[in-house]
Amino acid sequence: MKLAARVSRIAPSPTLAMAATAKAMAAQGIDVIDFSTGEPDFDTPEPVKAAAEAAIRSGFTKYTPSSGIDELRSAIAEKLKIEQGLQYDKSQILVSCGAKHSLYNVAEALLEAGDEIIIPTPYWVSYADQAFLNDATPVLLATREADGYAIDSTALEQRITPRTKALIINSPSNPTGATYNRPMLERIAAIAVRHDLLVISDEIYEKVLYDGATHVSIASLGPDIAARTVVINGVSKAYAMTGWRIGYAAGPKELITAMGNIQSQSTSNPCSISQKAAVAALRFGGPFTKQMVTEFDRRRRAIVEGLNTIPGISCSMPAGAFYAFPNIQGVLGKRGPTGPITSPTDLATYLLKEAHIAVVPGEPFGSQSHMRLSYATSMETIGRGLDRLRAALQKLG
Ligand SMILES: Cc1ncc(COP(=O)(O)O)c(C=O)c1O
Repeated sequence: MKLAARVSRIAPSPTLAMAATAKAMAAQGIDVIDFSTGEPDFDTPEPVKAAAEAAIRSGFTKYTPSSGIDELRSAIAEKLKIEQGLQYDKSQILVSCGAKHSLYNVAEALLEAGDEIIIPTPYWVSYADQAFLNDATPVLLATREADGYAIDSTALEQRITPRTKALIINSPSNPTGATYNRPMLERIAAIAVRHDLLVISDEIYEKVLYDGATHVSIASLGPDIAARTVVINGVSKAYAMTGWRIGYAAGPKELITAMGNIQSQSTSNPCSISQKAAVAALRFGGPFTKQMVTEFDRRRRAIVEGLNTIPGISCSMPAGAFYAFPNIQGVLGKRGPTGPITSPTDLATYLLKEAHIAVVPGEPFGSQSHMRLSYATSMETIGRGLDRLRAALQKLG
């Protein structure tokens, strides 16, 4: 069969693949320590489940408007207004099957062959592949750990060409946990306005912030940047609802309408029951999120402190999200049982095979010197995992 050329440009999501391998090993009875998953280990809060049950019982199980029910779009508009000071009409909000789907709809509505999209690295694995799937070229913009992964304005402007359509930002970031402060967002906004770029602002980890930090959406920095920003968010991370598949986009009406048309011809509406559940999450989920983030904070400190005591590893403290992104350069070049460990993938493979620890190597995020460990797992698992990691690294020659 001759498949479309675009298929050959992408790979399955490496984070999902690693999580699937870890789960398969566990199913075989192997005691795997899984640091690979990108989802809260908490159960979905009760009021959300109750809303879903009520939806099922009342027969709310049919097609809904393709772009999402009014009740949910109003709840999203209200949330964006109260929390970020953003003013959107319902027609500027599209509910999709997860934030990943929202991002895909943006890519499909915006990009075509020859277009470029700037992606700061390290980046979330799907951004580049979604550009490839739409025949566009991802242009990577390197940021440095030493600078807290901040975007350098000069470097950003150097990447802009007449073909640049958009810039993706992700604060708090998966995988680095870095956040963008207001002055940096203002600099990015000024550049986007000057060059008439769309900013795709992925704010999915907005609520997973530590040390009293508050989230700033770039769209809130003035009407010029608001007119050029599409805010992406969803309920997966903040309310432990990864399986329910509800994400949303808010932005310029022309773009949202185009995305809605694409959705109406591809998936139709996101799950009716999940939409009702998402309304409950936005209305009643606040206390749950607060509790969960307090627990993530405890784990964040434990895992980062523990990683920093392991020879060859150094780890900066993430300001948000639930990932540690340690630098492993001190381990690269050592010898494992099957040869030298020269890359994050070599190390991740060694750790999985020899120590039964699942991590995600840095390469798919655009880093040759890091690996990602999710601390959305219990303190007990973190403790055992760190002990195992230390012992596994000690064995390298
Ligand atoms: C940065 C980032 N954006 C978007 C998503 C997609 O989230 P979902 O499709 O579950 O809403 C994820 C999930 O891992 C993510 O890490």
